[in-house]
Amino acid sequence: VEPDEMWASEIRRLAAERDAVILAHNYEIPAIQDIAHHVGDSLALSRVAASAEQSTIIFCGVHFMAETAKILSPEKTVLIPDEAAGCSLADSITAEQLAEWKSEHPDAVVVSYVNTTAAVKALTDICCTSSNAVDVVESIDPDREILFLPDQFLGAHVRRKTGRDNVLVWAGECHVHAAINGDQLTAKSESHPGAELFVHPECGCATSALHLATEGAVPAEQVKILSTGGMVDAARASGAREVLVATEVGMIHQLRKAAPEIDFLPVNEDASCPYMKMITPAALLRALVEGADEVDVDPVTAEAARGSVERMIAIGN
Ligand code: 13P
Ligand code: SF4
Repeated sequence: VEPDEMWASEIRRLAAERDAVILAHNYEIPAIQDIAHHVGDSLALSRVAASAEQSTIIFCGVHFMAETAKILSPEKTVLIPDEAAGCSLADSITAEQLAEWKSEHPDAVVVSYVNTTAAVKALTDICCTSSNAVDVVESIDPDREILFLPDQFLGAHVRRKTGRDNVLVWAGECHVHAAINGDQLTAKSESHPGAELFVHPECGCATSALHLATEGAVPAEQVKILSTGGMVDAARASGAREVLVATEVGMIHQLRKAAPEIDFLPVNEDASCPYMKMITPAALLRALVEGADEVDVDPVTAEAARGSVERMIAIGN
């Protein structure tokens, strides 16, 4: 038996023994995606976590995702293979900063991207992910001012899509997506004429992607701003020969599985999230053997945050 197969059968055996469901985000390394019971984007995984029958959730993703699962299911044990797997975007706003921003806009509705700490969610009216951010904002009375945080690129996308200029946007960013810039996208698209563009709205190049469409450099129907889950659906529906992918490189694995006949090329090959990659095969095995690292959210914070997360999973797809 190959070592990889021994590892995989041990992971499955231990997961069954612990009554655990293994969830993996689309940015995990292929071995982790392939062993997981469910692979998906942040919204899909939150929904699976909320309805899981198992008593333990092993979250192969970053810390805020595991925290979100714990907020939704406080009675379950939630494990993350490495609790140091953070997120530069979640780190771009603290609860203290949000409290101060709110005090300057006391009547505003607070919409927070799910990439935030539990303490920030506790000060939030409604959370969103990249796949339902526009729907979430559209669910709010257009006369109400909105504080949208923490991602400036997703915020700009939401303002553009909804046409609402009373959406105020925090200036945070994910260092991985911010580094996928417009010049790289334009150069790649010029060297691959005819390719479709799949662009995550957290990318620094999201506005440039739309410019390419309005200038006619790429036909508008070939430019798609999508969450990671939306990319998998779009890959299945696409008849393209080549697709340029502007997001974290782990995404390519699910895209190739969804549409093996399409050539998927990363716009920036170095766009790798160091936090997602901390979830190694050895770390997952250790999590199952030791029952660690356990994710706990203080019950008062979890209670305050729960409504905003439940509203998020009820809206959009
Ligand atoms: P989605 O999977 O929701 O598109 O999120 C991307 C991301 O950066 C998660 O960290
Ligand atoms: Fe956070 Fe960016 Fe990594 Fe996603 S890719 S987990 S937003 S640092």
